[in-house]
Amino acid sequence: MYLLFLSKISKRGAFFMGKLKWWQKTVVYQIYPKSFCDSNGDGIGDLAGIISKLDYLKNLGVGAIWLCPIYPSPQVDNGYDISDYCDIAPEYGTMEDMDKLITEAKKRDIKIVMDLVFNHTSDKHPWFIESKSSKDNPKRDWYIWRDGAKDNTAPTNWRSIFGGSSWKFDKNTNQYYLHTFASEQPDLNWENPCVRKALYDVCRFWIAKGIGGFRIDAIPYIKKPTVFKDLPVDGADKLGDISLACANQEGILDFLYEWKSEVFDKADIFTVCEAAEVTAKDLPKWIGKDGAFDMSFDFSHIRLGFKDGYLWHKRQPWKLIELRKCFSDIQDTIKDNGWMPVFFENHDVARSVNFFFPKELDKVLTAKFLATILLTMRGTPFIYQGEELGMTNIKWPSIKMYNDIYSASEYELALKDGLTPKEAMKGIWDYSRDNARSPMTWNSGTHAGFSDGKPWLPLNDEYHEINAQSEEADENSVLHYYKELIKLREAHSALTAGEYEELLSYSPGIYAYARTLKDEEANITERIIIIANTTAKIRGYRLPELKSSKLLISNYKDKESSLLRSFEIRVYKVK
Ligand code: NOJ
Repeated sequence: MYLLFLSKISKRGAFFMGKLKWWQKTVVYQIYPKSFCDSNGDGIGDLAGIISKLDYLKNLGVGAIWLCPIYPSPQVDNGYDISDYCDIAPEYGTMEDMDKLITEAKKRDIKIVMDLVFNHTSDKHPWFIESKSSKDNPKRDWYIWRDGAKDNTAPTNWRSIFGGSSWKFDKNTNQYYLHTFASEQPDLNWENPCVRKALYDVCRFWIAKGIGGFRIDAIPYIKKPTVFKDLPVDGADKLGDISLACANQEGILDFLYEWKSEVFDKADIFTVCEAAEVTAKDLPKWIGKDGAFDMSFDFSHIRLGFKDGYLWHKRQPWKLIELRKCFSDIQDTIKDNGWMPVFFENHDVARSVNFFFPKELDKVLTAKFLATILLTMRGTPFIYQGEELGMTNIKWPSIKMYNDIYSASEYELALKDGLTPKEAMKGIWDYSRDNARSPMTWNSGTHAGFSDGKPWLPLNDEYHEINAQSEEADENSVLHYYKELIKLREAHSALTAGEYEELLSYSPGIYAYARTLKDEEANITERIIIIANTTAKIRGYRLPELKSSKLLISNYKDKESSLLRSFEIRVYKVK
């Protein structure tokens, strides 16, 4: 009887799964190429290194790889300053290597997702070099140039995201150009149709190569306001946050819909945008059936504790139970029409075990805690390299050792706000983007198996214990737990196609939810319940339906008790 039930649910499950697109059923793995695997001993990761690890990724259960930018770049912002959208940075390899990566990945049923950085280029991009050369150059209007204000000071008081004015003066033509990020990342002028066409052609170039999708960088900034006005000053630098003037401006959707119909609608790819500034109210126009993209990263859990902007040294106390509201709110917004990427880490944030949990906790336990949510939540899971090993933050003594341009700016802002250098370093240790960028640890040998040469960024000292090889050999490792969860996700359609419902909303400290897949016609339901203690204190709960259920996985390896232990999380299948 039970077997009959299983075969029916798997048939119906297959039906529901059939309604989902491939990218809704897959697991995405994000690679930071510079730090993933170096094949030629120059200390910098490369495409051949990635190819050599495809079997590792296949074995993990990954179906798509998001590659952070691999294009030629002066590397001021580690590749997010692109000088040629249709070529490969020599330090990463050649276009032949890229073609081989796409082909080899395809053989393993893995798709490659490219990072599109279209709000800005590098200041070394030929388009900008031309634009800068004279006021009457045909490409002058490809970027945003303005005369200075009174006394030839910057046209407005906008602060760039990496600190300082968002305008840079060009002596040659006596005008300023706009840069939302670093001054080496001038903003493109999307109002100019030739710019848009050139960018769409870039997309077509990569689609023709057989890639599976695009991750789209900083996209809310592409539309600038019609009138450029000063902002209220909000810091000791007498500037105002540029996102208030330039993010998600009226009219942006016209650009996005045009892009979609010109490019995305014509290809079997998915798009996921980075749009932290887009609110829930606007989301239906951004994603879903009528939206511009397939998915948009939601950052509410990454912003926990950051009440007033995103200044690292100003993070306020917050509680892990707040994850409940973050996830339930977003699931509620998109339940009828929308799909989200689920993530806890990427190349811009600290390691999740440090970011979400108190320092003293067992990192294996907490890494497994987050993995459980990541792989049981409704949406497409995105794993960031090393997260599947439970890698933790680095801690270097001096700001000079950090490579990340954003860390330098946060450090300066902390000093301007009156913190001592020692106090300012605390913010860097906790939140620097380099936490996620230290090289991937493959084994406990020389340079952690990342490279035969000196790595471009120091290794995390923990590599003797936390590395892929040791974790492969240990069945209680974080890596094994990830593999098990991915298999569970494949075996239980409810974990992919099921609805999300929050449970036990009023139980203090407990985050519980169900994933339910119903087949009204056949009167069959698959229901999975996830229940987590978000505190260190042992907690009881009352959920009668769990009486007839089977424990599928938990972050505690010893026998399940009737109470939830400190930061315990369990996944049950209701019979
Ligand atoms: C977001 C990217 O994720 C980040 O790494 C980069 O610095 C900025 N956009 C600018 O491109």
